[in-house]
Amino acid sequence: MHRITLTRPDDWHLHLRDGIAMAAVVAATARCFRRAIIMPNLIPPITTVDQALAYRTRICAALPADSHFNPLMTLYLTDNTPISEIIKAKDSQEVVAVKYYPAGATTHSEFGVTDLRRVWQVLETMQTYDLPLLIHGEVTANSIDVFDREKIFIEYVLDPLLENFPSLRVIFEHITTQEAVEYVTAMTNKNLAATITAHHLLMNRNDLFKGGIRPHHYCLPILKREAHRQALLKAATSGSPKFFLGTDSAPHAQTAKETACGCAGIYTAPAALELYAEAFEQVQALDKLEGFASFYGADFYHLPRSTEMVTLEKHPWQMPTHFPFGDSHVIPIRAGETISWQQVPH
Ligand code: NCD
Ligand code: ZN
Repeated sequence: MHRITLTRPDDWHLHLRDGIAMAAVVAATARCFRRAIIMPNLIPPITTVDQALAYRTRICAALPADSHFNPLMTLYLTDNTPISEIIKAKDSQEVVAVKYYPAGATTHSEFGVTDLRRVWQVLETMQTYDLPLLIHGEVTANSIDVFDREKIFIEYVLDPLLENFPSLRVIFEHITTQEAVEYVTAMTNKNLAATITAHHLLMNRNDLFKGGIRPHHYCLPILKREAHRQALLKAATSGSPKFFLGTDSAPHAQTAKETACGCAGIYTAPAALELYAEAFEQVQALDKLEGFASFYGADFYHLPRSTEMVTLEKHPWQMPTHFPFGDSHVIPIRAGETISWQQVPH
């Protein structure tokens, strides 16, 4: 197959940053996605509906003039999120979910929840009002090996949470392990789904160390063994509506990545859909891409499926070595290397 046409997809997990950095990256997503769930992990974090709406206005102002891209906003859950903010979010059209970062789990998560019991009433309210919870699923204890953080999270946090809130819609974000695939697959509760990134479908943990340390392949949750990548590929291409696209494209300045203590995050937006196509093609499952990329996420969020189309062609191109990023640069995935699929005008 050398050409595929599919319903314009949505990105159900995206970091856009803010200010001139955001203005430099938003078009990379808008070129191909109809909507995206915008992560709230700014400094300071987006904790109120008013902040989310103001952030959304800044994003829309930075879009190319002819763009129909629709940013869907989220609130950053903290120990102190008031119930009233949840109700306000539910009443808004633009704020569609709440994000739970365990404190200390990832980039800008220091304002996150220290103990789920502190937000119990907030979760009850979300369940009542049917506002989805987006979960960064990793435990943070120093005693837990970094490669085991997701697996342990399932047992100690996610499973008890779902027991207590069976009607809460939950998205287990950017899953990276076979255990997560098995857990989501086996779950009979229809209120649980998971997103999968392109980079976790294409790379394993060897890619962190190929010929030397590779800071641009460092992200959280960290890349895992090949067996986990295979399990993710199988889930993504299974046709199950429980698994859908979320790039977790997470740009950082080159200087923040290439340093003694580099930030987590991989900038995939300039080739996001193309990279998913490459992964699906590896297992001869391009026919499953449209469901994963364009249907299941919208259905889970109770949003209409997109009606526009996009076309990809097998037409290799070279990813630039870097892109402008505010007053700095960002190094994309596959910098200077070949991407085999290309989006072409429809
Ligand atoms: C994200 C970021 O940079 O904001 N980093 C990452 O490695 N994925 C945060 C996150 O989603 O964990
Ligand atoms: Zn993320």
